[in-house]
Amino acid sequence: MKIKSAEKIIQTREVSEGAGVTVHRSIGTPALRNLDPFVMLDHFGSDNPDEYIAGFPEHPHRGFNTFTYMLNGNMEHQDSMGNKGNLSAGSAQWMKAGSGVIHSEMPKQIDGLMRGFQLWINLPAQAKMTEPNYQEYAAEVFPVFEEAGQKVKVLLGQYQDVVGPINDPYTDVIYFDVEINQASQFEYSLPADLTSFVYLFEGEAEIAGTEIKQHSFVVLGEGDKVSVSAKSESARFILVAGRPIGEPIVQYGPFVMNNQDEIHQAMADYRDGKLVQQKAEMMSA
Ligand code: CO
Repeated sequence: MKIKSAEKIIQTREVSEGAGVTVHRSIGTPALRNLDPFVMLDHFGSDNPDEYIAGFPEHPHRGFNTFTYMLNGNMEHQDSMGNKGNLSAGSAQWMKAGSGVIHSEMPKQIDGLMRGFQLWINLPAQAKMTEPNYQEYAAEVFPVFEEAGQKVKVLLGQYQDVVGPINDPYTDVIYFDVEINQASQFEYSLPADLTSFVYLFEGEAEIAGTEIKQHSFVVLGEGDKVSVSAKSESARFILVAGRPIGEPIVQYGPFVMNNQDEIHQAMADYRDGKLVQQKAEMMSA
């Protein structure tokens, strides 16, 4: 067993997204354009409505999956497939944009804390233009492994004998929300060929001898074992892993394809109203 090092650390900064929402972006910045199979990671977290109330009004996607995990607050999702759902605290949503989705994600609250993550997971060429779909997962469907000083919520993958309810057929994504206290050490064996990262959103931690501050994004290095300990009273992070697709990635905003021609096609399709099969009445309410 070789313990994975903290190979690359990005101390994230706040950027403004959507209609003016403050997020900490890590993957998808000049410091880390992408991390195959992951294309973007945003952490939104604020108790100031001015930083989230504008939300993410109607916008398109093509060529990848979005996975949204809410820690606190309420967000309403509507899309061109006709889905309408409420993302509440602890719940999650997997959306395969495939050939094209237009959706909106708007806060369903006017004050209080709104906090969570959105991860973009690429699709292989063979699946980019397949039919889109959308799945919502209530907070209760995610199992939590608990032992002294440690709590692991399993969204995708398996921890000990606890298995998450979501499967990604293309990249075998693993996604845990982990909380540990100073007395315990988190350890997890991971196939060496998976890309993996930790994003620390509460407290301070140590990964293989390297100290990590809050809001740090850490690309894990070679090896087959993840080891994280808390340097503050407690620490909370997501551990995410996935199998690289190994294809060229050309991204233009909300479109992630394999080459420039496909990006131009996506832009033309969106402009001509052909990005989505049939646009359901989504924004009438
Ligand atoms: Co979106």
